[in-house]
Amino acid sequence: MQRHIRVTVNGTTYERDVEPRLTLADFLRHELGLGGTHVGCEHGICGACTIQLDGRTARSCLTLAAQVDGADIKTVEGLREPETGQLHPIQQAFIEAHGLQCGFCTPGFMMTTLELLRDNPSPTDEEIQHTLSGNLCRCTGYQNIIAAVRLAAKRLQAGGGDT
Ligand code: FES
Ligand code: FES
Repeated sequence: MQRHIRVTVNGTTYERDVEPRLTLADFLRHELGLGGTHVGCEHGICGACTIQLDGRTARSCLTLAAQVDGADIKTVEGLREPETGQLHPIQQAFIEAHGLQCGFCTPGFMMTTLELLRDNPSPTDEEIQHTLSGNLCRCTGYQNIIAAVRLAAKRLQAGGGDT
């Protein structure tokens, strides 16, 4: 039997009837058309599907849409400045530091970085590595991702945006 849910995603509230087994990742991608949340392993390993659920990172492939009734969700699409469309400092830093190649892993890394820099605005390289260790990238070798996080931290500390 379908469940009725009401969720806020990137500041917009949606109400839908969902199948009990529909994952949050599929809900975001197929019901709401928010394809920025990527689905890789579908069992919690790769981190490509990472979103923020009530302010904390969560694997949307391991979360059911029916579980998030009443929740406040942020996806990678919510990083841009809504009024101007300006990229978030984290997005800008990933571009400038060449923190992506194919981009499949990138939304997950950015959402994890968002939480990291909110909790710890000036992380050491070790802390960055530790926090990002739950996100897998097959292209970059990780060094440029770490450089991107360092750059984003610097920009945000200089007052370049919200986490
Ligand atoms: S698709 Fe969710 S962790 Fe890999
Ligand atoms: S940039 Fe290709 S998987 Fe990370």
